This record gives sequence, C-alpha cells and structure tokens, in this order.
Amino acid sequence: MKRRLDRTAPRRLVDRALRRCLPRPGSVPPTVRRAMLYSLFPGGKRLRPILAIAACRALGGRLRNVLPSACAIEMIHTYSLIHDDLPALDDDDLRRGRATSHRVFGEAMAILAGDALLTHAFEVVATHPRGGGLDFRKVRATALLARAAGVTGMIGGQVMDLEAEGRPYSYRTLARIHRGKTAALISASVEMGGIMAGARPATLGALRRYGENVGLAFQIIDDILDREGSSARLGKTAGKDLRARKATFPALLGIPASRRRAEAAVREAIAALRPLGVRARPLADLARFILERIN
Ligand code: IPE
Ligand code: IPE
Ligand code: MG
Ligand code: MG
Ligand code: MG
Repeated sequence: MKRRLDRTAPRRLVDRALRRCLPRPGSVPPTVRRAMLYSLFPGGKRLRPILAIAACRALGGRLRNVLPSACAIEMIHTYSLIHDDLPALDDDDLRRGRATSHRVFGEAMAILAGDALLTHAFEVVATHPRGGGLDFRKVRATALLARAAGVTGMIGGQVMDLEAEGRPYSYRTLARIHRGKTAALISASVEMGGIMAGARPATLGALRRYGENVGLAFQIIDDILDREGSSARLGKTAGKDLRARKATFPALLGIPASRRRAEAAVREAIAALRPLGVRARPLADLARFILERIN
C-alpha cells in the first residue's frame, strides 16, 4: 500500500519545537518573519527532523538534545526549497500545496526569507540546547551542517543540477548530483541525531552510510513522482523535470530500472544499520517508507 508519513505525533513534536526556536515577533522585521512562517507552516513531510530524532532515539539519546538540530535541518531544507523554486532556478509556482514564496512575497523577500532561515538555523544548532555540557557535540553538529548544506553538499549539487540541464550526462554525474543536492542534507540529519546522542565514530559511520543511501533513494523516487504523480497530490508542479530537461534517473534509466536502483539503495541503507541491532528498527521502517511514499 502506498503510504503517507505518519502525520501525527512526530510531526506535531517537530512543529512545536520549530515554533519555539524561531525569532520572536518584534525582534525582526515582520514581513520577513511572515515569509519564513509561510514556508515553514504547515510545511511538508518533516522527513529530515524525523530522521534526526529517530537516529538519536535509536542510540538512547535524549529528545531535548536533538530537537534544536532537527529544527535547524528543517529550516535549511525549507530555505533550499524557497531558493530552488525561484525563477532563476527551477521557476516553480507551487510548493507544499500553495503558491511559492516568491509568488506571494516577491523575489527579493523570498531570497531574504531563505537567507534568514539558513542563517538562523546555524544560530539554533550552535547554541541549543543551552547548558548541559554539550558544547563539543554542538560544534560538531554545526560543522556537519555547514558541510552538508554548503558547496561541498547541497549547494554543490544544486549547481551541478542547473549545469546539467539540457546536456548529456553520465550515470556517475547524475549520482553525484543527487548525492549533493539531496542526500547530503538527509545524511546529515541522521548523523546529527547520532552526534547529539554522543555516538562513537563507528556508529556515526553506519548512520552516514544509511543516510546517504536513503537520500539517494529519496531523490530517485522524487524524480519518479515528478513523472508519475499529479500536482495536486505532490503539492508541487508535476512533470517539470522533463520540460526543464533535468538530469534524472527516469530520464537516464527509465522508470522500472530507476525504481530498482532506489530499492537497492534502501536495501543498502538497511544493511548499514546492522551493527546497531534492533534499536535501529524505526530507521529501517523510515527507509522502507521512502519507496512507498506518494508525495
Ligand atoms: C523536496 O523534499 C525536495 C527534494 C529534496 C526532493 P521533500 O519531499 O522532503 O519536501 P517536503 O519537506 O515534504 O515539502
Ligand atoms: C531539489 O531537487 C533539491 C533541493 C536542494 C531543494 P528538486 O528540484 O527535484 O526538488 P523539487 O522537485 O523541486 O521539490
Ligand atoms: Mg531543483
Ligand atoms: Mg525543483
Ligand atoms: Mg524534483
């Protein structure tokens, strides 16, 4: 059966925490705060924070320690969507079931709201939770997030994605694009959960391998849904990749082989969890969810 991610408990938890860590009204210009809130709420699947929380919990970490990092990731992800939709990038009018930020607030405010979410995320992850002797973990989480969001990760992937439009590309290039633009942030979500739980390097390595494979599968399915889904169900414009001549798995391999590649990545993700034992079962379930998602 095709699934939606559990829209109740974990999502509510993330939403409450996100509201708490936003800048207070009155402390920032109201327009940009409105634009930030518009893109954050009601939001999307909240997959990245849910992964961070699941990883931390699997390792016996405390929820209050991981929530700020989980929120920071969702802010960065949301910023990446606002900018991805801009006319200069994918030029999209629909996101999370409604008009894109630049359509509502204008391009300048959409750019600034994205910038605001990106920078605020770093303040949150570097300073929260307050106290508790977690400074070393916070520094590591901050550095990891910077690497994953920046030119070595998501931004690098976005650059390659744009440069590949309408050009011939190899499987290798395509995999690099997807690893950068999507898997880097997804993998960082999982690893941050581990860092905030105080995981050892070997465990972090296992989480990273899991996250990279989940991230690759996630973007392959995103490519497939762009072809097979409807705008109404996706909450974003379907069929755009073909029109924009994007580098995608279905374009290169066809749908059945793309799906098989995503399934193989999910198997690799689950195999990477083996050293963690039964504790990692919720993470394995989240990996399987990727293959069944419908939006
Ligand atoms: C969309 O991500 C962008 C990609 C990396 C494919 P999601 O599908 O997680 O978007 P939301 O957060 O649920 O809206
Ligand atoms: C986006 O990839 C990855 C990001 C870093 C935002 P897409 O361009 O395929 O994402 P959608 O389909 O617009 O959500
Ligand atoms: Mg894009
Ligand atoms: Mg796009
Ligand atoms: Mg897409």
